This record gives sequence, structure tokens and C-alpha cells, in this order.
Amino acid sequence: MSALIIDGKKIAAGVTERLKNLVSNLPAGEIPGLAVVHVGDDPASAVYVRQKERASREIGIRSYVHKLPESATQDELLRLIDKLNKSAEIDGILVQLPLPGSIDAEKVIAAVLPEKDADGFHPANVGKLWMGDETVEPCTPKGIMALLDSTGVDMSGMEAVVIGRSNIVGKPISAMLLSRHCSVTICHSRTKNLPEVSRRADILVAAIGKPNFVTGGMIKSRAIVIDVGINRVNGKLAGDVEFETASRKASWITPVPGGVGPMTIAMLMSNTIQLAGLIHSERGE
Ligand code: GUN
Repeated sequence: MSALIIDGKKIAAGVTERLKNLVSNLPAGEIPGLAVVHVGDDPASAVYVRQKERASREIGIRSYVHKLPESATQDELLRLIDKLNKSAEIDGILVQLPLPGSIDAEKVIAAVLPEKDADGFHPANVGKLWMGDETVEPCTPKGIMALLDSTGVDMSGMEAVVIGRSNIVGKPISAMLLSRHCSVTICHSRTKNLPEVSRRADILVAAIGKPNFVTGGMIKSRAIVIDVGINRVNGKLAGDVEFETASRKASWITPVPGGVGPMTIAMLMSNTIQLAGLIHSERGE
């Protein structure tokens, strides 16, 4: 039997529509503002920053892109963040990663006011996430939770396996699955017998950045498979999951493109509106 597709493009469009309606009913003085800081020339980052600008425009959020050259110093960047922290026009701040090697990313992330942290990467917000307190949730994991919720499956008590331990996806999605009462295992490049572990998963999240790494043989029958990978192979996009073999084993699966990707931007918009005090942290509400 073939898996049902979790249509991230359609679900993200629904979130966008709801947010657009919400913003369109606000008086001019209450329109949320998002500042996106882009340092250097990473071509993938340039694409992501443009997508964020486009989504802000579509929803009606005020978007401010600050472009700094590759040669920008850490002090220059920290001064800009200080200015944005103090600006009454700005509700959310996002510093696009990766930063040039000369800049200490941890220091920069910690310089953003937790109350304006659109990424949910500030240590105070990360701490709240792990404590199960209400906070601003990182965009990609927040999008993944919305995709899982869209299946209507009760996650409580399920075995979840996350492949990848990044601060952007692997660690926060693990905290969020745990808060929904899953038993969570985090795997990474040093994990022994990874296929044996992944075959235990009722929910499998692949966030490793290796094209087609997860094959059908690594998936439990009827598992829900979430593919976070965005890899370029011969000019084409490929996920971390080998879709053809995986979709024969899974009950639900996200495609690449059109799965997790569109959700990340929709959730950044949701976070910005949340930071402006207009909604609570429910996903996309
Ligand atoms: N680079 C790749 N993903 C992300 C993200 O979610 N936030 C930021 N700031 N940079 C990224």
C-alpha cells in the first residue's frame, strides 16, 4: 500500500490565509514588523531571505531586510541588533544562518532580545521549550508539528526517532515531540545500528542533510515519515528520504519539495505575529 501525502504546500497556504486575514483587520499602527538580517553572500541564504520578504508582503507584515557584506565585523552586527532591539517598529528579528566564520553565531543569537526572537533560538527560549513552557518555537519544528497534527493521528505514547541533532531542527523537534508525550530517540552520525533504531519509529523525522539517506528498509511499516532534507543533486532538489521506497512502507509521508519547506516560512510569519502580541503560540492560529 502506498503512503498518503502530507501536503505542506496546501497546509502552509491555509496558515498564510488565516494570518493574512488577521493582519488585514489590524489598524495601521498595529501592523507587525519583521527585521531579517543577512550577512555575506551565501546563495541559499539569499533565496531564503527573498522568500521571507515575499511571504511578509503577502500577509501584510512590514518587512525590513538588512544586508551586511561578508566583510562585516561582529561589532557592526551586534550594533545593528541593538538598534533593532530598541526599535518600536520591530516585533521580530531573524539573523539568517549560517554567518561568516569570523562571527560568533552564538553571541549574535544571544544578543537578540528573547521577546523579539522570531527564530526561537535564544538560550532563554530554548530553555523554555525544553521545560515545556509557552515560548516562541523554532520555525521548522513548529511546521513539522503542524504537519503531524494534520494527519489527525494521536502521537501520545508513540516512538519517535529523529535523525539529526542540529539546534535548528533535530534538538527542538525532539523537545516538541516529547512535550506531546512521544518516546524520543535522537540519532546522529555516530549512532550505531541506525537502521535498527529507525525501524522502531512510529514517527521518523529525517534532518541529516544527506540526499536519499533513509530508504524503505529503514522504515517501520505504517510509520509517519517527515523529510526535512533540502539537498541539491545534479541541479534537482532531493530530500533526506528515498521517496519511492519509503512511500511503500509509510502510512503518511512528506514530499520534497512541497512538504516541510513551505511550512517553515509560514511559521516564521506566525511567530512574528505572536511576538507582536496578536496570537498565542498555537500553531498558525
Ligand atoms: N538557516 C537555515 N534555517 C534557518 C532558520 O530556521 N533560521 C535562520 N535564522 N537561519 C536558518
